[in-house]
Order: sequence, then structure tokens, then C-alpha cells
Amino acid sequence: MNLKDLYIDFFISKGHKQIPSAPVVPENDPSVLFNTAGMQPLIPYLMGQPHPYGTRLVDYQKCIRTNDLDSIGDKTHHTFFEMLGNWSLGDYFKEESINYSFEFLTKVLNIPINKLAVTVFKGEGNIPRDDVSAKVWKSLGIKEDRIAYLGKEDNFWIAGDSGPCGPDTEIFYFRSDDEIPQKFDPKDDRWVEIWNNVFMEFYKDNNGKITELPKKNVDTGMGYERVVAVLEGVTDNYLSSVWIDIVRKIEELSNYSYEENPASIRIIADHIRTAIFILGDEAGIKPSNTDQGYILRRLIRRAIRHAKKLEITDNNWEVIIANMIIEKYQKYYPELVKNKNVILDELTKEKNKFDKTLAKGLKEFEKITNHLDDNVLNKDLAFKLYDTYGFPIELTVELAKEKGIEVDQLGFKEKFKAHQELSRTASSGKFKGGLAGDSEKEIKYHTATHLLNAALKVVVNKNIHQKGSNITSERMRFDFSCDHKLTDEEKQKTEQLVNKWISEGLNVTVMEMSKEQALKSGAECMFIEKYPDIVTVYSIGDISKELCGGPHVKNTKELGNFKIIKEEASSAGVRRIKAILE
Ligand code: ALA
Repeated sequence: MNLKDLYIDFFISKGHKQIPSAPVVPENDPSVLFNTAGMQPLIPYLMGQPHPYGTRLVDYQKCIRTNDLDSIGDKTHHTFFEMLGNWSLGDYFKEESINYSFEFLTKVLNIPINKLAVTVFKGEGNIPRDDVSAKVWKSLGIKEDRIAYLGKEDNFWIAGDSGPCGPDTEIFYFRSDDEIPQKFDPKDDRWVEIWNNVFMEFYKDNNGKITELPKKNVDTGMGYERVVAVLEGVTDNYLSSVWIDIVRKIEELSNYSYEENPASIRIIADHIRTAIFILGDEAGIKPSNTDQGYILRRLIRRAIRHAKKLEITDNNWEVIIANMIIEKYQKYYPELVKNKNVILDELTKEKNKFDKTLAKGLKEFEKITNHLDDNVLNKDLAFKLYDTYGFPIELTVELAKEKGIEVDQLGFKEKFKAHQELSRTASSGKFKGGLAGDSEKEIKYHTATHLLNAALKVVVNKNIHQKGSNITSERMRFDFSCDHKLTDEEKQKTEQLVNKWISEGLNVTVMEMSKEQALKSGAECMFIEKYPDIVTVYSIGDISKELCGGPHVKNTKELGNFKIIKEEASSAGVRRIKAILE
């Protein structure tokens, strides 16, 4: 039986509800391009909101990490991976969590206890040593020698810089035929981390301040690819059952064996798989020059270049590989079947597009690099390769490296950023929920709209309702029902109240619920019939609650100063406010 099924079944038998994998593109969190961990879509619930499925959850989550494209090509890194996870939202804590993990590993996967070791938080700063976890491990038969106590660097988990966090205990497996040492040394790479149990009891804000969460949660994560490889006894993930048939197919299509050129084969397998999951996602991302679309484009183009390197001549190679991958995953991710045509079409379109410039670009690259004064490719040349021939920077860097040449990557990045800002402004209407664009400023205005809506109700009349809004990166416009022109005093008080809420640093949180439940809870909305049965509701502290597709800022203090610049009639019984954030 597949590890995913075993995992889900086990936790269901322990009273957990299975939740579906969230899309790879976070629905309501503009601060990250992709979900990078199983817990990411659950942040609002880890922060204290009730989850519609209860307090014990389990899933397998699609995750994408592309910050380290350079490392793809080795035995263990992937840009896409599946994370198995189970959560307690203020339900069980350390003891049960460790017991469940231990039972799953030793009774379901039948791993001998002698092959296991763990790390536990040794205590640092104001947070004490995690004696509870160590005691539970010992009670289960893990010897003291097999417990390593480590500090924040290793045993304190947080996604990024801020958010829910806490000490963790990590479980290691001895992957080697060597004799197993008595004492566990976490630096000995024969010990491989297979599972991370995080005890999320804290929240770290943007200033680094740590406070207690309203509830103590458990967040665990097990990397599927790694654990399958471990269980199958291979040290190269690409030789496990997750990959081996794809690897063999690429060998068959190319003139090289896996032994001859493992890196190119791994890059093609990995990048095409990730591209499939991005294209197959409900978010509808297509290759482009900004944000997720650009990551997608880079992955496909890098795969194409490696297909050239392997002298793959079958003109249909990307479709052959993609079909295999889709078939392999369709049981778990039905969206891949539903979006199969889009996936195959977009892959082929992008290949054809890049094929046209790749050969010319490679020629240009040779010309440029044969005439360098020093061994550095400057930012203008790197940008020319990008702008004229569509070479993503890592492709240029990779080609340059093969010739012992360095690239001014920092210089390129600055030039690229300026260029990207322009493209971003040009491509509007990308987010759902009626937002005109996705710049940070527009997201701020979006949140300010909710504050203004709430403030008008307090200052002017509790029966005021939103009648429309329009946001650009320059200003916001807000239409609302009202029978009179606002007085100067009303305008001033409204402005002051919005600014008071901004300065209070109220958290913006999001929750999914049924439409009925949302209305019952008093959430505000404009056209109820326009919403699906399950809706997202955004709350700002306890002053505002609205049905809305997002995105929003995480905390009102990100908004700056709010200023009304105009109040005028819009139509009969409807007034219009134009406002800015300074
Ligand atoms: N969120 C934890 C991790 O990703 C479980 O390791």
C-alpha cells in the first residue's frame, strides 16, 4: 500500500479528519508565491480560528520550494514535493503526538526501534528545554544515547520570519547497512530526518517579538519523497519508486544513461513534474514573466535546455513525460486529469516558444563568452540574453559555469526587478475577487476598504453598506449607501477611526465556512448570490468581518496613514469616497 494511504488511514483511525491538499498557490496569503509546507494553508487555524473540520486534521499537501534551483540535479532535492502532515488545533499535545508518530513508524511501517533516533529542543532564550518530549520518547523505549538536544537553529520551527512557531522534535532513521552506532550523532549523514513534530505554542511577529498563541497546537511534516526512498533502501531519491520509471523513460528518449548524466535527467524529471503541478493547479497559472508564472517558465525552460543537452530528439518528449507523471498522480490529484489538456498545451507552447530562441541564444552566448575581457559576464549581457533570447538567469549562470565564467547576478537582479515592475503593472486582473492588480499597494488598499466600511458604520450610520469599490495602486474608491453628504466632522472622525485601527496593529485573519454560516456569523457581503457555497471570510481584529476573496495584508499596521481626499455623490442614495494611504 502507498505510504500516503497508510498515513491518512492511520490518522483517521486516531480521530483525524482528512482535509484536501490546498492549491500550490496560496489563496489568501500574498506574502508567499507557493505553499512551502503543509502547515501554510492552516495558519489562520493555528492562530486560533476554529477549523470547519474540527481539531484533528491530516493531509498530504502539494508543496513547492524554488529558492534553491541550483541544488536540483543532486540526489535528494526537489522543487515540488508532497508533505504528509497531521495537526492538533488545541487538541492533543506533545505526549499523544509523539505516541502517534512512534506507533505509525514502528507498527505500521514496521521500522525497528533500533534504527530510530530523535532530536529535542535543548532550551534557549526564554524558552525552556523540552523535557516533556524527551521523557515521552524515553517511555517509548528510545535510549538516552539516541536523543540529541539541540538549540533554536535546529529544533525550533517557523515558516519564514514570522508566524506561528515552536520547539520541535525531529525523528531520524539510520539509512545504511553499516553497524548502527550506539550514540546518535545528528551530523552523521547516515541518519536521515524523516519526520518533524512542531509544538506550536508561540507567535513571532514582524519585530521578532514572541507571544503565546491562544491554543497549543501540533504541526507535523513528513517529506513523502524522502521517506519512500528511505523505506526502499535507496540513497538516491530518483532511484525510488517515486521516480524510477520517469528516469528510465528519459534515458530511453535520450542518448545518455542515468549513470552518464544523472543531473540533467533529474532536472528534467523534477522540473517537468513541478510544472505539471503548477499548471494543473486550480489557480490557473500560465508561463509569464512575473511571479509564479515566471517560476513556471524558468522551470520549463531549464528542462528544455537539459533535454537539448541529452540530445533528446523526439519532438513530443515533454508530452510523453507529462502523460506518465499525470497518470502516476491522478489518483491523489484529480485536478491533473481535469486540467490535462491545459497542462499539455502549455508545456508544448512554452517549448515551441523557447525552441525558437534557444539555439540563437546559445550561439549568442558562445559569441559573447568567447570575447570577454575578464571572466565575468556583466549585467547588461546577462540581461540581453534574458530579454532577447528568454534565458532565465540560472540558465545563463549554469552555461557560464560550464565555461568557468562568472555572472554579475546581483546587477542582473536589479535590472530584472525594474523590468518586472513594469510587466507586473501591465498584467492586471490576475487575482480573483475583483482586485484590479496584485501590487503590494493594492493589497493594502483592499484592506483599507474593509476598515473604511467598518468605520462608516460606527461614525455615520450602522446601516451603511458597500455598493462598490475600485482600487488602483494610487488610490482607493469606495461607494456606499448613504442619504446625505458627509459633514466635515463625519469625514474627520471616519478618518481618525480608520487610523486608530491601523495604529492598533490588528491582525487580519481568514476562515473558510459555508455561505449560510458566514451570514449567520454576521459577516458583511455585497452580493450574496455571487458567492460559492463555501466562502472565505476575512476578519480584522473584531471590528470587521466580510466575505471576500482577498488578498489582504496580515496586520493593519502595514497600511500607513489613511486620508480621505474626496467625498461626493455617486448616484441616488449612494456616496463615493476617494482615499489614499500615505
Ligand atoms: N511545518 C513543519 C515542517 O515543515 C512540520 O517541517
